[in-house]
Amino acid sequence: MNLDQLTDIAEKMVAPGKGILAADESSGTIKKRFDAIKVESTEETRRDYREMLFRTESAMKENISGVILYDETIRQKAADGTPLVRLIEAAGSIPGIKVDAGAKPLPACPGETVTEGLDGLRERLKDYHELGARFAKWRAVIDIADGIPTWTCVKTNAHALARYAALCQEANIVPIVEPEVLMDGDHDIQRCADVTEWVLKTVYEELYEQRVVLEGTILKPNMIVPGKKSAKQVSVEEVAERTIMVLERCVPVAVPGIAFLSGGQSDEQATAHLDAMNRIGGFPWNMTFSYGRALQAAPQKAWSGKKENIPAAQKAFAHRARMNGLASLGEWSK
Ligand code: 13P
Repeated sequence: MNLDQLTDIAEKMVAPGKGILAADESSGTIKKRFDAIKVESTEETRRDYREMLFRTESAMKENISGVILYDETIRQKAADGTPLVRLIEAAGSIPGIKVDAGAKPLPACPGETVTEGLDGLRERLKDYHELGARFAKWRAVIDIADGIPTWTCVKTNAHALARYAALCQEANIVPIVEPEVLMDGDHDIQRCADVTEWVLKTVYEELYEQRVVLEGTILKPNMIVPGKKSAKQVSVEEVAERTIMVLERCVPVAVPGIAFLSGGQSDEQATAHLDAMNRIGGFPWNMTFSYGRALQAAPQKAWSGKKENIPAAQKAFAHRARMNGLASLGEWSK
């Protein structure tokens, strides 16, 4: 493991004014997104769509520090034969790769999942590094409902995250550690805060036990928000204050950066929350975005699978990237 290299990459991933584009939707998830815009999901349409994003020069150069790719994409070539990875690098952005194999039902824990993918991971990481990946992502999923999450679920997912992170560092790849507490339920913000605090404390304990060097990691957490179906929605400021409070209780100062997931928030909410946190400031990490839906919903809609819509779609992507870049500095305004 080369710690200097790892910390250098991690710091670039959360450079001021920049954040990460999560374009690592699995084939199943991208099909769902394409269904919504009435585009058939084929190897070619997926390539065309992602190529369009990676060729959005202003966004890629100014606001996107790294791109999380899916296995298919990291091996794919643009229409002119250039590997997509080279397009990302040419824009000065860093290619990354999703390496988990998805959340699978956790035995004896109804309604809960464990993220799989550790088998053969050492070999896959070596392969991905050769293909150009300098960071990776693994997403653990924690749901909130009556009686869940269980300790079994929290502990098992945290342990898998830590084993993944240790293998990444061995391969000189920066692990994005993503324990996502879902916002799907009807729970209030306090419950999200309590569960997230429990999860993060467990994750950092497991990372320590697996000898992961925190300076060479990035945390990708959820924000502290009420469940989508909660009757008690809260202000942007409350989300910002609560999120900072939970992170300050749990995340060691050695971690260079925190890149939030959007998790189903609207584009503008995700931007406003990040901006509000950075306006408060005073915390020891760079806080930025690692958004999937909140960066891509607008360009997907504008594109709708039509070549003639590419300029409009690129404009929509550049706009969201710029707004989130400003939010990472606490300088966004509507
Ligand atoms: P969302 O921003 O759409 O939640 O996606 C980010 C991500 O990479 C989830 O793993």
